[in-house]
Amino acid sequence: MNDNATPPSDAGSAVSLDHGHVEGTGERLPAHFENPGLPPHQPRWSDVDEGAAKRAERQVLTFFLISILGTLLFVFSYFAFSIDQLIFLPWFGHISILHLGLGMGMALSLLGIGIGAVHWAKTLMPDTETVEERHPLRSSDEARRGLVDTLVEGNKTSQLGRRPMIGILGGTAIGLFAVPPVLQAVGGLSPEGMPGGELHHTFWQRGMRLMRDPEMTPIKATDVTLGSAFHILPEHIDASLEQLEQLGYVTAQERQSGDFQHDQHLGYLERKAKACVLLMRLQPEDLKVEKSREWGYYGIVAYNKICTHAGCPVGLYEQQTHHLLCPCHQSTFDVTQDCKVIFGPAKRPLPQLKITVDDEGYLIADQGFAEPVGPSFWGIHR
Ligand code: FES
Repeated sequence: MNDNATPPSDAGSAVSLDHGHVEGTGERLPAHFENPGLPPHQPRWSDVDEGAAKRAERQVLTFFLISILGTLLFVFSYFAFSIDQLIFLPWFGHISILHLGLGMGMALSLLGIGIGAVHWAKTLMPDTETVEERHPLRSSDEARRGLVDTLVEGNKTSQLGRRPMIGILGGTAIGLFAVPPVLQAVGGLSPEGMPGGELHHTFWQRGMRLMRDPEMTPIKATDVTLGSAFHILPEHIDASLEQLEQLGYVTAQERQSGDFQHDQHLGYLERKAKACVLLMRLQPEDLKVEKSREWGYYGIVAYNKICTHAGCPVGLYEQQTHHLLCPCHQSTFDVTQDCKVIFGPAKRPLPQLKITVDDEGYLIADQGFAEPVGPSFWGIHR
């Protein structure tokens, strides 16, 4: 087993150091160091004991199995639990079962593959030390042929032929590990981002007045002067479920079943985070997209404030250019083009809220948002 532990060809030659002191001590370094060469090869237990090798093989298989179970737990949690199902854990308090399952699954999946692969390499793969002299970057033809021979030899010595279960379970673990990223690509790391999920709904409903934030006073179309911009929240956003039921925004059946069409069941801050809107007035002819003209009211348009890149509030309105700027990574949205992204990392426009006025001239929502709000990775748009 020690056949490759041959010292390098210059073993015994000296490394010359012409000068040098140990810093701070004034002590002079020795002029020469002896090349210690390689230490004697120590065979591992699994090299000399077939029983130990078998045990190591079983341990590697166990780790790959843990990885497979972790991936299955991730996939199961993804489809089986909703973000609202909570569990109480000592030290942590109430946490979402969905997040617990996704986190545990991903952790086991990664750890299983990682530990299994390292253990396999350390205990079962050939344990030989080699020394290679520096050489020109391009290998000689002979070395290239040698590489091919080495690969062929490596295939034999990896013992996949003798221990096929390692290949099968290791391959399965690595193959299954591709599933979570695929799910993430399709629907985000939460089923909420999938079509019909909660990110498609905010607190906005047809008929709700637009209220100035933070005063929470209603705003008339005549209050919105040309070039002005207002931060807006939906009317009743701080109301309790009972109050919303009295107002007709929640049915008794919804309240009892806990199955809401909009965000009425969320707390005030969560409702606000998703429903915040920026309201601006432009000349109607400046709006170049017909839909944004139709969804606005005589040049008054309302857009969700959550940046579609990573969720920062888009609050900087440049009234000369009609650009909205996100302060986090400088994504810029052109209000004249239905808030299309004209610069920066965001990938889709800000969703528009369709508005109109009520009998008293106050601005109201004509419907909720027609598409998911928030960063692209929350939803299915890319
Ligand atoms: S969060 Fe808006 S640009 Fe990144």
